Amino acid sequence: MTRYNMSRRTALKLGGAAIAVAAAGGYFTLVRPGYASFPSPPKPLQIPPLYKGEMRDGVRVFDLGIQNGVTEFFDGMKTDTLGINGSFLGPTLRMNAGETVRMNVSNGLKETTTLHWHGFNLPASADGGPHQVVEPGAVWSPEFEVREKASTMWYHSHQLHKTADQVWAGMAGVIVIEDDEAKALGLPETYGVDDIPVVLQDRTFGPNGQMPYDRSMQAQMHGLFGDIPLVNGTVAPFFDVSTSLIRLRLLNGANASNYTLAFDDGRSFDQIGTDGGLLEAPVAMQSIRLSPGERAEIIVDMSDGQRTILRSVAAGGGHGGMMGGMMHDSPAFDFLELRPMETLTPSQPLPDRLAELPTASGEGISKVRRFEMQMSGMAMFAKFQINGKEMKMDRIDEVIEKGVTEIWEVSNSSVMAHPFHIHNTQFRILDRNGMSPQAGERGLKDTVLVGPREVVRLLVRFDHYSDPDQPYMYHCHVLEHEDAGMMGQFTVV
Ligand code: C2O
Ligand code: CU
Ligand code: CU
Repeated sequence: MTRYNMSRRTALKLGGAAIAVAAAGGYFTLVRPGYASFPSPPKPLQIPPLYKGEMRDGVRVFDLGIQNGVTEFFDGMKTDTLGINGSFLGPTLRMNAGETVRMNVSNGLKETTTLHWHGFNLPASADGGPHQVVEPGAVWSPEFEVREKASTMWYHSHQLHKTADQVWAGMAGVIVIEDDEAKALGLPETYGVDDIPVVLQDRTFGPNGQMPYDRSMQAQMHGLFGDIPLVNGTVAPFFDVSTSLIRLRLLNGANASNYTLAFDDGRSFDQIGTDGGLLEAPVAMQSIRLSPGERAEIIVDMSDGQRTILRSVAAGGGHGGMMGGMMHDSPAFDFLELRPMETLTPSQPLPDRLAELPTASGEGISKVRRFEMQMSGMAMFAKFQINGKEMKMDRIDEVIEKGVTEIWEVSNSSVMAHPFHIHNTQFRILDRNGMSPQAGERGLKDTVLVGPREVVRLLVRFDHYSDPDQPYMYHCHVLEHEDAGMMGQFTVV
């Protein structure tokens, strides 16, 4: 065991104990070995501002300014951060299925960056990947049609070799897409009241309150973990619930941590949506695992009037070795306390059916593409590859025909789990090691966790855009791995 891991483990234990005090309603202090301690009373959950853009000539226009900021995560302690229209993270962008949006992205930083619209089918030139660099002081204005259904997407930096760094500092935000079918279901949908974006992240703070990005070999190898959980940038948050049902739009916005989320009182909840939209029907469950980049919408019943804490439970080797044991523990900590108010406004009951989804079947599909995620070597010689290759900007790895359904067989020969993400599509999971996916993974997906020695088969199709020159990406969504080369490029023709 390395020193890095030992100190992390100790920190987590202390952090857990400290937050247990918070749950009892008291003030607490987060103490980490070797660091100054920050007094931090529980705080109301910050809700990112809702930003609907402005309609200009039938186009919904968003003005997004990427900027340096200073954020007070702990009272009286100033941390340098990055944000979009704010100091840390960005506003929640709301748009309707079927409309055209334009993003005016202005780069107020002293370095190049990009802004990627994660989860969208869109022209490669509008994708915001490593090829759509925005120079300092420049404005980039892609325009695209919103082809997705009601769902929770997100946006984040995708700058080559700097994604991990920039996202760690705060360059990410949530996108909510609405449509009429979803509206007709009577789901909780009042933003900030019973429909809440929940951006889950973890960070490490240094003695002076800074949130340094750790470039050590160890951190780069494992992916960067923090010991302080943040929700929408809030440390130790609580939310006052005023309705009997509450909808949480969960986003794992971490650089590297897999979270297995559950409530401290063991209550069950209903998953209603995956990355790309609503499931066919609500799925009752007591815990849900989200890897970096994945989203899930859940409905929590608060009508018992009891407080409950959403936490990430340790799921290290416990899940059949899925996480690869000591290499990739799920951090254990409390994220968010839900505090029901004295009287709750009754919500409409959850419908039995949510959406129609075609059955995902691989029958009759002959085109199979294989992707093997690989880690090899040690320390300075570590290599992060897909199919024996590291990401190269001027190499197209796959050329795919538009409108043709393919099976992508994604395997993992390393000892860590890797979340595999594909741009410009919402796919379906056919099977995992030959077994059908669990009910909560049977919806539209753009990111899927592939454990060591697992083979996951995906039903993939690119329906809308073609461009022989500009590529899209597929990659591991552990941002350190992506930056180190576990990424490839494809064009759709
Ligand atoms: Cu969320 Cu290629 O990214
Ligand atoms: Cu993406
Ligand atoms: Cu990875």
